[in-house]
Amino acid sequence: MSLYHALTVVDVRHETADACTFTFGVPTQLADSYAYQAGQFLTLKVPHPEGELLRCYSMCSAPTQTVNDQVQLSITVKRVVDGRASNYLCDNITPGCRLEVMRPSGVFVVNDWQQDLLLFAGGSGITPVFSILKTALAQGSGQIRLIYANRDERSIIFLHELNQLRQQYPERLEIVHLLDSLQGVPRIGLLQSLCYDMQSARAFICGPGPYMDAAETALHNAGFNADTIHVERFVSLDSATAKRDESRPQTPDASGEHTTVTIDLYGTTHVIDCASGETVLNAAREQGIELPYSCEVGMCASCMCEVTDGDVELRHNDVLTERDLNNGITLTCQAVPKSKTLQLKYT
Ligand code: FES
Repeated sequence: MSLYHALTVVDVRHETADACTFTFGVPTQLADSYAYQAGQFLTLKVPHPEGELLRCYSMCSAPTQTVNDQVQLSITVKRVVDGRASNYLCDNITPGCRLEVMRPSGVFVVNDWQQDLLLFAGGSGITPVFSILKTALAQGSGQIRLIYANRDERSIIFLHELNQLRQQYPERLEIVHLLDSLQGVPRIGLLQSLCYDMQSARAFICGPGPYMDAAETALHNAGFNADTIHVERFVSLDSATAKRDESRPQTPDASGEHTTVTIDLYGTTHVIDCASGETVLNAAREQGIELPYSCEVGMCASCMCEVTDGDVELRHNDVLTERDLNNGITLTCQAVPKSKTLQLKYT
């Protein structure tokens, strides 16, 4: 089964001066492969003139939204200054274009829709948060507070839809807009004051690094348990590539030992040899087997799978929580086998 499929862009919508939403049509026979959970992302092969670029973009649509009986699949892309992929997409992709898209992945997801949610979004970090918000309103019952930070009013993505949702769910949804142009950059004390009355909630945070750090500290200060806080770090693959270049090599050490790795890739079984010190992703690639990946530095979770037997050690992990690890979830781009045999399963 191919990891990527060419999906047709059926709609392009300009959200703000520098953010566009792209909606993909999903043929019926691929509907199962592109079913997703709110908060997940897509990895795209962006056909840039300088060469293909792999990039991850979160879904802004919700799995509960349908158009003509099909689940809506939309991502929102905000231009990054000098960003090759984001500017290429916003400048060149029009309805009718086809893009190579990998099936959805990511662990920034909600396990219980009935609980209260405290959502922090900064700038385009609203994208996965918006998907979670819409799903929670449609199929949950808890209270939701969205704390949404932006530069100024004109940079607020989805402002109109958020206002509509607030009118539709006045008892359940509260939205607090924080604007740098009015209040300055959000401070920990302010964010903390917005947390105290929601201590039974689960918190989800996505946005620029300093905002996420401030929100996380605010939640800790307000007494939230670490395992109730979910953070989605934006993966800038330009910086990820730089990190990869600096990171330890993914290739074997000199011991000559190896592990037999059995990989269930969406129902197809592959058996490979992985040398001591080598990552599973690298070993598979060397042996001509294509596994899902994007950043290759342990930041995005597009290479995530389950260890069903054996042990691995992760060289680096910026994305999986303690609970994921305890549930046997791993990252093949960082996983080095620690047992004589290993079994992995992609679901
Ligand atoms: S490819 Fe991004 S975490 Fe492995």
